[in-house]
Amino acid sequence: MSLKIKNICCIGAGYVGGPSMAVFADKLPNIKINVLDLNKERIAAWNNEDLEKLPIYEPGLSKLVEKNRNKNLFFSSDLEKNISEADMIFISVNTPTKTSGLGAGQASDLRWVESCTRAVAKYAKNHTIVIEKSTIPVKTAELIKNLLDSYIKKEQKYAKVHKSFSILSNPEFLAEGNAINDLEFPDRILIGGEDIESVDSLKILYEHWVPTEKIICTNLWSSELSKLAANAFLAQRISSINSISAICESTGASIDEVSLAIGADTRIGNKFISSSPGFGGSCFKKDILNLIYLCDFNSLFEVSKYWQNVLTINEWQKKRVSKLIVEKLFGTLYEKKIGVLGFAFKANTNDTRESPAIDIVADLIVEKAQVAIYDPKVQKESINMELNNNLQNFKNSKNDYLQDSKLGEWACYEEIDDVFKNADAIVILTEWDEFKTIDWNNASNLMRYPAWVFDTRSIINEKEVKESGLNLWVLGKSL
Ligand code: NAD
Ligand code: UGA
Repeated sequence: MSLKIKNICCIGAGYVGGPSMAVFADKLPNIKINVLDLNKERIAAWNNEDLEKLPIYEPGLSKLVEKNRNKNLFFSSDLEKNISEADMIFISVNTPTKTSGLGAGQASDLRWVESCTRAVAKYAKNHTIVIEKSTIPVKTAELIKNLLDSYIKKEQKYAKVHKSFSILSNPEFLAEGNAINDLEFPDRILIGGEDIESVDSLKILYEHWVPTEKIICTNLWSSELSKLAANAFLAQRISSINSISAICESTGASIDEVSLAIGADTRIGNKFISSSPGFGGSCFKKDILNLIYLCDFNSLFEVSKYWQNVLTINEWQKKRVSKLIVEKLFGTLYEKKIGVLGFAFKANTNDTRESPAIDIVADLIVEKAQVAIYDPKVQKESINMELNNNLQNFKNSKNDYLQDSKLGEWACYEEIDDVFKNADAIVILTEWDEFKTIDWNNASNLMRYPAWVFDTRSIINEKEVKESGLNLWVLGKSL
């Protein structure tokens, strides 16, 4: 038994809501999909005729939006109308770490989940399936259910109410930069829920493009926890390989060769073992912090320490990179121009949230460098916002007795050659394809000698760089 679904809405038109609903609309042409957001500017950007101006850069996304927008895919800020017409509602709002109060620095801030649940409680009519797509703490489904039930209870005091809800968990596993492919060909779909009719209704929708054997149905709490656990496992692999990258540099081993050798073991697998300046993105850190909070809450302190170490290694890796750059450049960056290639947290996205570039570049600025930044997709406003926020923390913590407290500066460039001109060093922080084919002879001619290249993603042609007369450091290698 399943319910007939004709109208879906998704609250939150962000990196998950936008792409996932674009794919839903494409695969389910007979269902009307409304993507809702309180942020009117974001909605206007989703509705922009100029597809270059969509709020999110994601390969393949603009094509899907162009094909389906205003047919069965709509972007709107009208929560009341669209929620009232929906049979199924996805909650896809942000769930960042709390910055103050109880659980600050670890627990998820559920204020956005709460506010959109209240909107659902108020405007929904008849029976509505409410689905957690946001990543949330285990047991959030219970909070959502209690909140929705309390509205029904209050409304029933005054009139007979024909309103009911069932709650499902359906976490999203897409990775930015590969989102459309991940959504069209997912490794698995996870649906958690107790109400079989609702679970089946969602399962049937996915079966339009996902093989049935890839759809896993569990109880609510397993589904909620599996999302946190999956991200923790992925992040742990990166901290593991990054810890080995440091050993490579000290011993003469090469991280590429070690990754190849260990990844050939099918039990380990070759994915997600590329060394890097640290993992970034809006989720790994916050989801591990969320897991740590859950462990501490349940007095599982050893488990919490275990996961804390994944984060500790990640912070250490970023510091290790910035420290090494300073050391190689005579221990001072005063009046030195450092070119930074890539600011996004990974290639093929314009997202900068928690990008390792933020901490590394901020460290260089604290060392008084003149930093020149080039990223093919990130807007300069995002870079300025991230660096201003980060450096504000430094300014706030500055000791009064620090006389020489003037920081360096940064500027963003649209032409890569402007970054090379008179630079003392180039630091590659994101693995964009175009950085793999840089003409190092040309770069070398434009730079000030002695000039360095620091490759934290192990993507450049080492021979070419060395032959061009540049000094080279590659993360995880002792050259
Ligand atoms: P985001 O910040 O890009 O988007 C969230 C959107 O929700 C924002 O545009 C915000 O304005 C909107 N919003 C907040 N409260 C609202 C309300 N009450 N009514 C209407 N709109 C509201 O976030 P995101 O990256 O899309 O992540 C969303 C969730 O998905 C998070 O829980 C995240 O952990 C999870 N997730 C993210 C990714 C990813 O790659 N970004 C992948 C898997 C899961
Ligand atoms: C990650 C997960 O991969 C998704 O499954 C999950 O849905 C998502 O988080 C989420 O919950 O938000 P995402 O952060 O978009 O996706 O991108 P990843 O490809 O996982 O990369 C995360 C970070 O790890 C990047 O900074 C990347 O450069 C780094 N990374 C990745 C490495 O350093 N080495 C690797 O081998 C892989």
